[in-house]
Amino acid sequence: IKKVTTHQLQAMKERGEKISMLTAYDFTMAKVLDQAGIDVLLVGDSASNVMAGHETTLPITLDQMIYHAQSVVRGVDRALVVVDVPFGSYQGSSSEALRSSIRIMKESGGHAVKMEGGEEIADSVKRVLSAGIPVMGHLGLTPQSIYKFGTYSVRAKEEEEAKKLISDAKLLEELGCFAIVLEKIPSALAGEVAKAVKIPIIGIGAGPEVDGQVLVVHDMLGINKDFSPRFLRRYADLHTIMTDAVQGFIKDVKDRDFPNEKESY
Ligand code: KIV
Ligand code: NA
Repeated sequence: IKKVTTHQLQAMKERGEKISMLTAYDFTMAKVLDQAGIDVLLVGDSASNVMAGHETTLPITLDQMIYHAQSVVRGVDRALVVVDVPFGSYQGSSSEALRSSIRIMKESGGHAVKMEGGEEIADSVKRVLSAGIPVMGHLGLTPQSIYKFGTYSVRAKEEEEAKKLISDAKLLEELGCFAIVLEKIPSALAGEVAKAVKIPIIGIGAGPEVDGQVLVVHDMLGINKDFSPRFLRRYADLHTIMTDAVQGFIKDVKDRDFPNEKESY
């Protein structure tokens, strides 16, 4: 199998082929997604919400991200694996960002890292890139800054924030990032950014005029019932399927139907 590289993502943008990306946090799920043909797997710090049940992405640690990334890498033959650098492990200084990113690359075997922000983290992005580690940017609604924003509502609706977002995207391209995630911004703005830079723009809640799309896998599979933003399309109702399966098991146990003779030694 030919592995997906950052260069291939660039070539996909150039020939107009959209890039597919989903999150993954564990071996079994990563294997399913990789074998299904996904281009990019993101070991997102959304693991903090989805896997650990925290309200925000802030509490997850670098060690925990590395654990998730190790598990995902073991399940992957083809996809490019990108790992989020968690809150508090890169904002302090560029050497902290480098140290954290090197740990992720060495200990997990991931292929790239992702960090949230533009000009504020330019030094960190530069330093990490100079070590030969591919960096994906993340602009718009950056969940590690939720306490600054106050809400998870659409970002960059006003001129000033939109202008900063465009200049941040150009800066990240200039520094050498291989792609940028744009989260929850108006689609016209996202389309403008995708035209303004040569590197692939991957959207989530950023409309169709970008170079690829990413979703949280538990959301798109419908395992979460209680998260329904406008941008989410559910491709399955696993919550119902799983509930029916578990209730079937409970019933069979209570009825002494399971296990039967064939299922016993
Ligand atoms: O952590 C995550 O799941 C993400 C995606 C929403 C882009 O950063
Ligand atoms: Na994230």
